[in-house]
Amino acid sequence: MREAALEAIAAASDLEELKQVRLDHAGDRSPLALANREIGALPPQARKDAGARLGKARGMVNKALGERTVVLEAEHEERMLVEETVDVTLPTDRAVKGARHPITMMSERIADVFVSMGWEVAEGPQVEAEWLNFDALNMGADHPARTMQDTFWLEPAEAALVLRTHTSPVQARTMLTRKPPIYVVCPGRVYRTDEIDATHSPVFHQVEGLVIDEGISMAHLKGSLDHFATAMFGEGITTRFRPSYFPFTEPSAEVDLVCFVCRGAGEEDGHTCRTCRGEGWIEWGGCGVVNPRVLIACGVDPETYTGFAFGMGIDRTLMFRHGVEDLRDVFEGDIRFAQPFGIEI
Ligand code: PHE
Repeated sequence: MREAALEAIAAASDLEELKQVRLDHAGDRSPLALANREIGALPPQARKDAGARLGKARGMVNKALGERTVVLEAEHEERMLVEETVDVTLPTDRAVKGARHPITMMSERIADVFVSMGWEVAEGPQVEAEWLNFDALNMGADHPARTMQDTFWLEPAEAALVLRTHTSPVQARTMLTRKPPIYVVCPGRVYRTDEIDATHSPVFHQVEGLVIDEGISMAHLKGSLDHFATAMFGEGITTRFRPSYFPFTEPSAEVDLVCFVCRGAGEEDGHTCRTCRGEGWIEWGGCGVVNPRVLIACGVDPETYTGFAFGMGIDRTLMFRHGVEDLRDVFEGDIRFAQPFGIEI
């Protein structure tokens, strides 16, 4: 019995098998346990002998079980360590990581420039009331400037809703809901019925700025835009104002950025500058001193307050800053365009 038990213990190759061996050879129904029960019936001397031999055999079997358990546990441990090892040098299938769109990142970067000066970010809907997109901004129904912005109208016409043609309705929304002093910036998407080409798209992005406070002048506007330009393009990149016309500002100006390649010269090494096509300057947006008629329409007292506003092209800012030559690349959604911007722009 003892020999059979010891052989079985030695043969058990894992803990699971040893468990069964323990039941068979040391459990309540094992031959040794059964024999132990029988010895009560033996005469006293034989009982003593048998008891001693049986006790010794059971002791040996239990000891062997204990030792085998230790060995098998160690083996098990060893095997787990080998099986669960991670080979960090194995090549992996790299999942292509998504990237935020360069325009989204550019918009946030622009907003940050103004937020760090204490301005707030304002928002407005892309489907806008005709009144806010035009009328509140001094563009009544027959104002010729309405045709300057070819508009997508929503049906039915009676709803008087448009896809906003600029971010300027956010000026009106802000003045109608906040009290001066107002310092807000609003980056957003706008729409016009333009044909798609390298510099035009029916969907594009603007960033609107609006300041309403006491004693605000054109000088504050110029200073703010120069700061914006420097923050975007680096030291020495300033702006130039060209007289222009917008119904909601008076006076109004078109804003150009000095070309960062030729610095306004229009040529480099005797050749026409490719970046600005010889202009020396690149158009960036429109701006001006807020027309008092707009202040009145939006409930701001023009006797106490004056203000300035601007609307710059975000897509242009991105193109200029990163040397993107075709606006279609910005909108077509090819990740090969977006990826290089994925980490930081
Ligand atoms: N909204 C004008 C445009 O889209 C730009 C602008 C904004 C001009 C604010 C003046 C003041 O062309």
